[in-house]
Amino acid sequence: MAIQNVDEFLEKGVLETSNREGFLKFLQSFSSFVEGHHLVEDEKVFPYFMDKLPKVPYKGLMDQHKEIEAALQEINNGITGLRTQKDELWSLKLFKSGLGQIDEIWQPHIRIEDSQLYTLVGSLKINSKEMIRLINEVSELFQEHTGPPYLIAPFILYNLSPEDRAIQAKGFPEIVIEQLVPIDWKDKWAPMQPYLLK
Ligand SMILES: [Fe+2]
Repeated sequence: MAIQNVDEFLEKGVLETSNREGFLKFLQSFSSFVEGHHLVEDEKVFPYFMDKLPKVPYKGLMDQHKEIEAALQEINNGITGLRTQKDELWSLKLFKSGLGQIDEIWQPHIRIEDSQLYTLVGSLKINSKEMIRLINEVSELFQEHTGPPYLIAPFILYNLSPEDRAIQAKGFPEIVIEQLVPIDWKDKWAPMQPYLLK
């Protein structure tokens, strides 16, 4: 979705002035989320499953993470450029290039991870205590390396359909779902709402 917005802004030669901050917050959340997601796979998930599911192409997936990281760097540079009032067109071109590269890699990347790794985890019969420990370690590491929470939490929730969102919400502390996201943090993340799902 963001890439269409960038195309539109490039056509106009200007970033939507009315909601510039919302778009920047959206890109910032996207970038932080994707970076954190890959970090936990590289450092926790892949090492954990390497012996248990040896056929997964871990090396290739980690190489793709590096390519995505380079693309995210372009997006981050574009965000800094716009926040420091540099040439707007330069930043928009960085967004387009970064998002374009990610767009190419993303779907095939996720397909491999899902089909060769995540859907097979159930068949390993890992005991639930061990599974909870792994999930907790993963979410702690993710939280340490992403932020700010008032953008990341709504970004995760509102990139999902209402049905999937309800499932995801169960993994969040109750206070985040009932108080922080809808009330305390609302003003901070509301500007990026046009780029999220309802
Ligand atoms: Fe990945």
